[in-house]
Amino acid sequence: MSDNAGAAEQVLQRLFTDPEAIRNPYPLYAQLRDLAPMHRAQIIPVWVFSGYPEVDHAFRTVSFGKRDELTRGFGHELADDQTYAFMSKHSIVRQNPPDHTRLKGLISREFTARRVQNMAPHIEALTKELLGRVEDPSDFDLMNALAFNLPVRVLGELLGVPEADQGQFRDLTISITKLIDPSCSPEMLVKAKADCLVMERYFLDLIAERRRKPSDDLTTALINVRDGEDRITEDELLATIMVLFFGGVETTTSVIGSLVLSLLQHPDQLAAVRADRTLVPGAVDETLRFQSPIQATARTVLESSVIDGVELAEGDIVLTYLGSANRDPRRFTDPDTFDIRRETGQHLAFAAGMHFCIGAALARLETGIALNQILDRFVDLALIDDTPDWRPNATARGLDTLRLSGTMA
Ligand code: HEM
Repeated sequence: MSDNAGAAEQVLQRLFTDPEAIRNPYPLYAQLRDLAPMHRAQIIPVWVFSGYPEVDHAFRTVSFGKRDELTRGFGHELADDQTYAFMSKHSIVRQNPPDHTRLKGLISREFTARRVQNMAPHIEALTKELLGRVEDPSDFDLMNALAFNLPVRVLGELLGVPEADQGQFRDLTISITKLIDPSCSPEMLVKAKADCLVMERYFLDLIAERRRKPSDDLTTALINVRDGEDRITEDELLATIMVLFFGGVETTTSVIGSLVLSLLQHPDQLAAVRADRTLVPGAVDETLRFQSPIQATARTVLESSVIDGVELAEGDIVLTYLGSANRDPRRFTDPDTFDIRRETGQHLAFAAGMHFCIGAALARLETGIALNQILDRFVDLALIDDTPDWRPNATARGLDTLRLSGTMA
């Protein structure tokens, strides 16, 4: 191993094991990018891409696709014959063309921009209801009060998950996300797999229930695609409904929390956005860049290729560190500065290319509504704890709690 590769390996080791890296992984990412933006790791058998051009290339180039990256890529051996439905080989996130193209077309046909835009008044009403439940504005946890409950209610209603059932999904999603965390312990892995099956059973029952009693939700619409036109398999139906739910809950929860934290840590920008709400969309996207809810995803090399003289063999797995790419000075000026007026159009928080996130518009809409209403409802917002805890996950980045004090406007 060259000196650079050896040093990069040590950085990676710290990234996966040092508790400080959970609080602030960005200095380690910077070292990794400088030492080796394409690093052949030893600690787990993958390539680690940490630079913007490298990650962007992997997202947009057809020789990088999906195969074994979820079963092997995060350092855990997950058997594909066990379902883990939404992560299974039937899930859109793990498909290549032509199946990916077919599934994306079908889902996009049902989950249209208009369907999302039509949800705005309802999301506003839900946000108002949830914030209205805050009893003591002088000390409340935003993650509990709003950041988790809003996405779970929105996706629950979209897919027809009754409100009474929604509460159980917070712990389940946090546990299941450990499957994509290279620092996950064997015990947590066992729990994550078991929780996957709990969630899978829930959604199997929901599908059966909607077949008996159709509704106007997205689950029923997808069942109709399956039963009417036979263009989606039963396994794909389950995986799709689960990926829509799971993909949208923890991620949106995280960005709502990180957005409010970042603004409170930058009072001048909080004041600016309070005074001029046209800055809200920029603040949302800058948070997606600055604290990407998914720090890394993965690809499998489908055709051997050479990038900048580095040879990648067919079957190699690549961890694409978009959280690091989004801080790459080769792409963003002063990347470690939070700046809501920055042009962030090209950040990679939703990936890029064919697997670009289906829920991006919904996540942006929800987060923007959440911020507007928080600003409308509370003045003198302040952090009770200046250094809130991040959930212990090296891949899914979000706050555990965010204790705030404020006064009702
Ligand atoms: C801030 C919130 C969100 C973030 C940061 C996020 C991030 C991502 C990323 C990085 C990917 C690409 C994964 C890969 O290529 O390996 C992705 C794909 C996906 N996301 Fe999201 N997501 C968010 C919200 C949502 C929501 C609200 C939904 C559902 C309504 C959703 C559903 C999906 C689906 C179905 C895919 C698979 C797309 C494909 O493979 O073509 N996401 N998301």
